[in-house]
Amino acid sequence: MTTTTTDLRTPDSTIPDAARVDETRVEAFAGALLTDLAGAATTVMTVIGDRLGLFAAMTGAGPLTAAELAASTRLHPRLVTKWLAAMTVSSYVTHHPDAGTYELPAEHAMVLSLPGSPAYVVGAAEIVAGQYATLAALEEAFRGDGGIDYDVFPPSMFGGVERFFRTAYTHQLATTWFPAVDGLVDRLEAGARVADVGCGRGESTLQIAAHWPACTVTGFDIHHPSVVAARAKAIEAGRTDVAFRTADATVIGPGPFDVVVFFDALHDMGDPPAALRRARERLVDGGIVVAVEPWSLDRLEDGIGNPSVRIDYSCSTSVCTPGSLGQPGRYGLGTQGGPARRLALLTEAGFRDARLAVDDGVNLVLTAVR
Ligand SMILES: C[S@@+](CC[C@H](N)C(=O)[O-])C[C@H]1O[C@@H](n2cnc3c(N)ncnc32)[C@H](O)[C@@H]1O
Repeated sequence: MTTTTTDLRTPDSTIPDAARVDETRVEAFAGALLTDLAGAATTVMTVIGDRLGLFAAMTGAGPLTAAELAASTRLHPRLVTKWLAAMTVSSYVTHHPDAGTYELPAEHAMVLSLPGSPAYVVGAAEIVAGQYATLAALEEAFRGDGGIDYDVFPPSMFGGVERFFRTAYTHQLATTWFPAVDGLVDRLEAGARVADVGCGRGESTLQIAAHWPACTVTGFDIHHPSVVAARAKAIEAGRTDVAFRTADATVIGPGPFDVVVFFDALHDMGDPPAALRRARERLVDGGIVVAVEPWSLDRLEDGIGNPSVRIDYSCSTSVCTPGSLGQPGRYGLGTQGGPARRLALLTEAGFRDARLAVDDGVNLVLTAVR
């Protein structure tokens, strides 16, 4: 049951003694808060532009009037006009006042509407918006046992994860991440049995299978709707050599596997130590484990002000940590916390030679050997 928060918001209305307050700092912080709120509000417009195909319709179209954009997208003209204004004042869209037109610069389309671009990160807007969609559940989690059931998170958020991470997998997985792991590419080329644990909608699973067709790849995920989506994608891609199973990471199998990978999933699990122990159990001697985790730093204070650390701590508190606390194990590792902690988990699970293979400022690629 939801309890009112009114009293908690106004515990004491006394304004601190003016002599003890630095007004410049008050102003600076109020400005910083406003900037954050502007970003948060604009994210709603970004999601609308993405979902309704407004960015896509503007891509490569040159200058358009609001009426032209409304007609080509079949959307409500007044709302399209307002959306264009919101996008203009946030500098997403260029406005040509004399002609009364609006234009999406090609460089912005690379980020917002061209899925093949290495800068295509608009999927993250759905992840951020997902936090708002589950705010009530988060309040309850804070007051209760800390957990949020996976079914509470909206499909749009899982879709955002899929699209956001696909960009990194497409442009980094085969070219920089895997080559940095000793012996991994040789094994994949020779035909390895690979488990992709916490595979979500199967983006990384399918990419591994496509790059290294001699491999047998199985994706495992606890979230059944994601597994169903992954299977549908495999069928669409004509990949009958890839299997997807609904399973908790702590019971994957039967194996044996030559390679076990976790892509942005280890921290989401209820029991990462048990998941790593299971991976080790199912790996052959000399088998390789790879965990790709969101970039993070060992010391909290080193991340102050960094936009990606700020987003990650927020998403971690709203989604990843309660998602983990809602599962058996209730470990709550969180997306942040740095490589040292993750390397320690690998070693504690019995792996040898745990090391950070890649730190590209966006992701960490950790690896170890059985
Ligand atoms: C952030 S998503 C990443 C999905 C996918 N690896 C990707 O990169 O697109 C984390 C995934 O871990 C899965 N997951 C969470 N806990 C799990 C568990 N205990 N066992 C297996 N999968 C789990 C979630 O269902 C989700 O699909």
